[in-house]
Amino acid sequence: MKHVAVLTSGGDAPGMNAAIRAVVRCGVAKGWGMYGVRNGYAGLISGNIREMSTRDVGGIIQKGGTILGSARSQEFYTDEGRRKGIRTLRQMGIDTLVVIGGNGSQTGSYHVHKLGFPVVGIASTIDNDLYGSEMTIGVDTALNIALEAIDRLKVTASSHQRAFLLEVMGRKCGYIALMAGIAGGAEYILLPEVETDPEEVAESLRLAYEHGKAHAIIVVAEGATYNADALTQYFEKHKDRLGFKIRATILGHVQRGGDPGAFDRILASRLGSGAIEAIDRGEFGVLVGLNKGSITTTPLEEVVANKKEISMEMVKLAQTLD
Ligand code: F6P
Repeated sequence: MKHVAVLTSGGDAPGMNAAIRAVVRCGVAKGWGMYGVRNGYAGLISGNIREMSTRDVGGIIQKGGTILGSARSQEFYTDEGRRKGIRTLRQMGIDTLVVIGGNGSQTGSYHVHKLGFPVVGIASTIDNDLYGSEMTIGVDTALNIALEAIDRLKVTASSHQRAFLLEVMGRKCGYIALMAGIAGGAEYILLPEVETDPEEVAESLRLAYEHGKAHAIIVVAEGATYNADALTQYFEKHKDRLGFKIRATILGHVQRGGDPGAFDRILASRLGSGAIEAIDRGEFGVLVGLNKGSITTTPLEEVVANKKEISMEMVKLAQTLD
């Protein structure tokens, strides 16, 4: 009989609860003891861990956030912190750890693996910047929230003949900005991965105005060289020739807190079940992800050594459609 603990770490993502539910229920179905760790790696270090039954994960599949709580633990960045966490697990008779999270969290799980403790990761982050999974838990829901914001802003933009700057999440990765921009018919999209001259954006606004467009939407990833604040300052200096009046909206954490849509609930359930199957096969030190429609495992070593690139084909498509 195995004893498996599950934790959620890093930024919360809609669908994390569905993943916890699947891990616990699929583990219990195998006759294993299942445990939940509170507040990510911090709870591992402090021993904030309790046994979980199938009832403990009832009524959560539709809820955003994570019932286990999440955190970005500084202590777990240190070797001492990691060894402390592993010691806690061993003392409690737990033999395997499941980590639901993104890049920082899976770097943590890779270190746990290197220290010889059996661990399996589940790909979850709204940024979709994790190597080893084409889609991660939470992306689809966050994207739809950003898209709804664009659609709403367009209404007001048209009423007032304005241009709206919408800043979406993504410090290092422009996936949400790119996809929301394409789906929302944005005039311009600024990404951390593509250097953009603000003059080019100003020119596209001027042309859109000249062509009689009633509104313009510019989607900006928070990590773009020119974010919403920097662009607003730039446009302020050039406002007489832009035509449109400019307003900026920063969407922020609103994108993370949604209730998961069908895609994220199903993806999370499949990945949770995939993690339990990997453990059953004795496959550790891997990330469970979705690739070409199937549930796959990728060595954590490969996951942390590689960067998921944004699709240049999609960038080109966005440039053609704007
Ligand atoms: O990694 C997910 C994410 O939402 C990023 O898009 C964003 O830059 C970051 O987390 C914000 O982190 P925090 O919630 O710690 O401010």
